[in-house]
Amino acid sequence: MFGPRIEGRTGVSLIPPTLEHFNLHARWMMEPEVGRFWGPRFGDVTPERQEERFKKAGTDQTQIQWTIVYEKQPVGFTGIFDINWVNRDGESGIFIGRHDLYGRGIASEAVRLRTSFAWNELRLHRVHNWIAHANRGSRRANEKSGYRQMGLFKRSYFRSGEWYDEWLGEAFPETFPDKV
Ligand SMILES: CC(C)(COP(=O)(O)OP(=O)(O)OC[C@H]1O[C@@H](n2cnc3c(N)ncnc32)[C@H](O)[C@@H]1OP(=O)(O)O)[C@@H](O)C(=O)NCCC(=O)NCCS
Repeated sequence: MFGPRIEGRTGVSLIPPTLEHFNLHARWMMEPEVGRFWGPRFGDVTPERQEERFKKAGTDQTQIQWTIVYEKQPVGFTGIFDINWVNRDGESGIFIGRHDLYGRGIASEAVRLRTSFAWNELRLHRVHNWIAHANRGSRRANEKSGYRQMGLFKRSYFRSGEWYDEWLGEAFPETFPDKV
């Protein structure tokens, strides 16, 4: 399913995705600057497949997904996936497709909004994620909203000629620093 509109700070908001946003994902994911640590670098990204993905994401009851907007433009997406509603646990993810906008605090604010929603609206018990240890930007954005390391998966995957360790993070309502 898609998440509702949430207004954030510093020009960042989360909004329900549209098919046009899903068509942007396909283009972003193929860019080397964006896909350094994560995402497919080839595959079926025709408009027909994106429409299928869009419909599936919108009806899937085990995920909640948003488009990230910065200064009124779609710049990426975030969500909580594979939600187990009995254990109230899910896996979070974030993707900023506009690499010209990295380092402006967009991910930090999007993670804050998403995490606040997980506790205050979804009433989840825990959210976890897997991040390449070398992907400091993603780790930091999540740590600032209360994610803590629970493990380190050494040499988890091979990409661009090298092994990457993965940082396994988890967050709980009580680790959220911003009780707004
Ligand atoms: C990783 C990503 C989410 C970071 O987004 P962003 O909007 O640039 O992040 P922010 O500006 O909020 O920065 C968060 C923190 O990381 C730091 N940071 C950002 N990019 C960094 C980089 N390349 N190297 C080191 N630190 C970095 C920032 O300084 C900030 O730290 P601070 O608040 O302690 O000063 C974004 O680059 C992205 O989506 N990349 C492609 C997809 C991806 O890797 N997704 C994550 C998969 S787990």
